Parts: sequence; structure tokens; C-alpha cells
Amino acid sequence: MDFKEQIALAISKAVSDVDKNDIIGGIEVPSDLSMGDFAFPCFKLAKVLRKAPPLIAKEIFEKIQKPECVDKIDVVNAYINFYINKKIFVEKILSKVFELREDYGKSDYGNGKSIVIDYSSPNVAKPFHIGHLRSTVIGNALYNIFNSIGFKSVGINYLGDWGTQFGKLIVAYKNWGNKDAVEKDDIKELSRIYVKFHDEAKKNPSLDDEARLWLVKMQNGDKEALDLWRWFVDISMKEFNRIYDRLGIKFDSYKGESFYNDKMAAVVDEIKEKKLLVESEGAQIVDLSEFNMPPCLILRRDGGTLYPTRDISAALYRKKTYDFAKCVYVTAIDQNLHFAQWFKVIELMGYDWSEDLVHVPFGLVSLGDGKLSTRSGHVVLMEDILNSAVEKTSSIINEKNPDLPDKDKIAEEVGIGAVIFNDLYNSRIKNVVFDLEKMLNFDGETGPYVQYTHARACSILRKAQINDSDIDFDIDFGLLTDDASIDVCRLLEEYPSKLIDSAQKYEPYIVTRYVVDLCQAFNKFYHDNSILGSDGDLKKARIALVYAVKTVIFSGLSVLGIKAPVEM
Ligand code: ARG
Repeated sequence: MDFKEQIALAISKAVSDVDKNDIIGGIEVPSDLSMGDFAFPCFKLAKVLRKAPPLIAKEIFEKIQKPECVDKIDVVNAYINFYINKKIFVEKILSKVFELREDYGKSDYGNGKSIVIDYSSPNVAKPFHIGHLRSTVIGNALYNIFNSIGFKSVGINYLGDWGTQFGKLIVAYKNWGNKDAVEKDDIKELSRIYVKFHDEAKKNPSLDDEARLWLVKMQNGDKEALDLWRWFVDISMKEFNRIYDRLGIKFDSYKGESFYNDKMAAVVDEIKEKKLLVESEGAQIVDLSEFNMPPCLILRRDGGTLYPTRDISAALYRKKTYDFAKCVYVTAIDQNLHFAQWFKVIELMGYDWSEDLVHVPFGLVSLGDGKLSTRSGHVVLMEDILNSAVEKTSSIINEKNPDLPDKDKIAEEVGIGAVIFNDLYNSRIKNVVFDLEKMLNFDGETGPYVQYTHARACSILRKAQINDSDIDFDIDFGLLTDDASIDVCRLLEEYPSKLIDSAQKYEPYIVTRYVVDLCQAFNKFYHDNSILGSDGDLKKARIALVYAVKTVIFSGLSVLGIKAPVEM
């Protein structure tokens, strides 16, 4: 039985007619620890017992049999406060971590249900920009967090691999491009000629007509058009994969927009059959005025499909393929309306699972000093951003720890970890400032700070000459009841519920902040207590605690998608 259950049982025995299970949900963890470790407010019982809550509290207090895990009980107004025995508390938490090790925190909360996460989803032949980085990093963290609590995550990279940009690109390539240049400079060259197309089309609008013709050719299966299209897709994928490799990210599916080309006609028919389609200025739309939204565009005047048409088709396909409990879309906040509109269309089509479609929006990224924006011309390339983070980390390492083995690998892990951490540090809707100086500050609430704390824990274990496999867990838990150790244990106890909370809210920052809190508590413990300098049982107990902390920091960083070097 856990603490709450033992307390609930004791309370229910003290009041007749109330079941333990009705009590347990009412037990709270006070925010002020001087009010006990758990508290039971008696307001709800007032209805059943028809007495004033403070009186009920007093009566229970007089009758209650103190459960074994509780040291002290007191009453403040309508609250009964319980103080857990510290040794029992420490023992319970740490034994669990020691038993489960890397699996501590995981649960079967999701019951194996599947959750589809649509994230990253860059547009082919256009640069992977810093907004896509946010989607990638947030989506990947959610993917891991949901997996860790017993869901089956399905990660989908819904590539923007179809649409008008390809017609333009073909025209641009035919006019100003050549094979060698594209092969040498890949996306940079493609975006150069793409930008040139826009400049030239301003002077010569017939280029736009030509581009439209090429798109029609693509739609009609013209070999030359499709060969060029496939080539552009391959070139883009090469760049995207370079970035994904560096971020350590994989997807379960890369079915992008083009995958739905041959599936949309049936969907448009279905929308029509359900009498939702109306004509407006030659186009086909679903009227949403009743819901205070502009119409959802389904077919263009020329019969071409649109972004919402593809998303609706993809959602139907995903429901059929994965039977998801939730289907989540991670994009910038400026797509709010798009998702609200087509989610509504799915609802109007009569699918009750429309409520399982979730848009998870995030705020913008601004570049603090603007220095990054000029390097590659018109856009800030993701690779430049990652490179500058890694370069700066390298110079910090060279200054602080020049003899560190494997310096390049660690600079990569820390530099990229810092970028990811920075992105996940706040509620996702907040805008992010990309400030290298700040995110690489080893003393701030940053990725490097957390990684460094992890490395410090590893180094203590190394110096104690203990491998993970032969740590002695048979310790005297009573030696870990000082304030600093207890604070660490309290945080360790929260980890499983933090993962669930973060999944329920689609907010990775809950894990990020948690990991920072754990590091701060650990660093205080480290500062207050001598570990390697202590002796015998005390040393053994403290080392076991260091192991527990190291394991949970590692696990937290892994779900966030951040590496944890053992030395820095
Ligand atoms: N390719 C889009 C963009 O870069 C994002 C796609 C998001 N996913 C979706 N199912 N609409 O803006």
C-alpha cells in the first residue's frame, strides 16, 4: 500500500460509512511542507456527516489510529495533516528506483493505445528553418513521453512534398539551374533558384503560368515532371536526414502530402455526399460561418486540391491505419485557424473521433542578436544554427577543460542539447529567444547545467570506483533523512507523475523544469554533504542516492531527446 492508501484507510476506519476509495482522491500534498506531507481537508465529508468541517477534522483526529508510515498527525481548522516517517519515505522511494533503474518513471497509463504525432513536417525544396526545429523537438519529446507512459507513439513526418512550389522550381531549374550546382549545394542551390523565380516572376508574370502548367503535368503523371520532382525530394531528404541524425530523431512514417494525391477524390466525394460542399466563386468550400470561422477550402476553381483537403484525407487514413486514441499536430500557432477549420469539417462529416484530433501549437522563435541571419543569404538555415551552437560549446570546452577526451563528440552533444533544452524550457506557446550566450551558460537553467550535473554524478561514481552493476543497494535508509537528501527523494518520487502530467498537457517543459529542480536539489545535497569523504554505511547510502539521481536525470534527458555525456 502506498502512503495515501494507508492514510485513507486509517481515515475511513475513523469515520464510519465512508469508503477508503472515496477518501483517497481527497488527500492532498500541501504546498507548504510545514503543513505535513499529506493533508486531508474535511469539507467534502460535511455533506455526508452533516457537521461543520473543523468539527469533523477534530473528531477524526481523536479517533484515528496512526498508520505505520506516519510519525505525527495534527489538525489545523478543517485540515488533518500527516507527517510521514522520513526513513520509511526514503526507503520506499529509493527501493523503487533501485528496483526499476532506467525504467523508473515508466507506467502503463496509456494501456497500449496508439497516439499519432505529426511533427517536423518541413516543406521539400525549401530550407528547414528554425520554426521546423521547434516542431521537431517538441514532437520528438512528446513522442518519447507518451511511449514512456504506456502509449504506442507513431511519429509521422508529414512532408510538404507536393504543391505549387514544385511547378515554380521546375521552371526555375530549367531557366537558371544546372545539375552540378544542385548536386554540389543541394537545398542552398534550390532555394537560390526558387528565390530567383520569385524575383523574375515579378517582372515577367508568364513564368507563373508556366509553373502552373508544370504542376498540371505533375498531376497528370508526366515522366519528366515527376523525375524532377522526385530528384528535388531526394535532395531535400538528404539535408533533412543530416539534421535528424544530429538531433537523434527518427520517424515511423514519412508519408507526406503527395501520398494522398490518389486518395483525395474519394474524400471530396464523401464530403459532397454528406451535403457539406458548396460552391463559392467557382471554388468548392465547406461553409463554417455558423461556427464563426471562414470557409474551409476543399477544391480550387481549377479543381486543384488544397492544404485542408490533404489534411482531411490524411486524418481519415490515419484513423483507419492506426486507430489512434489521439492524433496530435505540432505546428506554429499561426496555423490555429487551419486546424480548427478542418477539425470542424471532420466533425460535420459525422466522425465522433474528431474530438481526438489535437492541435499542439507553439510560439515563434526570434534570433536574439540577429548574427545568424546573414550567413546563408535569405534564410537562417538549421545547420548553421546547430553549427554555431556546437562551435561555441567547443570553445568553452577548450577553455575550461582542454584535456577532455572525445572533445568533438561532447561538444556536439552539449551544443545540440543546449538548443533542444532551450526550446523545451518554457510552455510551448511562449516565444523562444535564440540566445547562444544564455543557453550555453553552465550556471543557468540550461541544458549544459543539467548535463554537467549528470556528469558530476557519474564522476562521483567513477571516483568511488563503482560500476552501475555493482552498486550496493542494501543501505541504511535512515542515514538519508537530512533535509537535503529528503528534498532529493521528494523530487525522485514526483518523476512518474510529472511524465503523466506533461503528456496530458502536451507540455514537455514540465519534464524540463522537473529535471532542473532535481539537479538543483542534487547540487545542494552535494554541497551540504561529503560523499566520497564520508565512511562506511554513510558513504554507501550517499553513493546509492547519487546513483538514483543520475539514473533519473539520464532518463529525463532521454525523453527530452538530449544526450547525457558521462564526462564534460
Ligand atoms: N508543412 C507544413 C509547414 O511547414 C507543416 C505541416 C503540419 N502538419 C499537417 N498535418 N498540416 O508549415
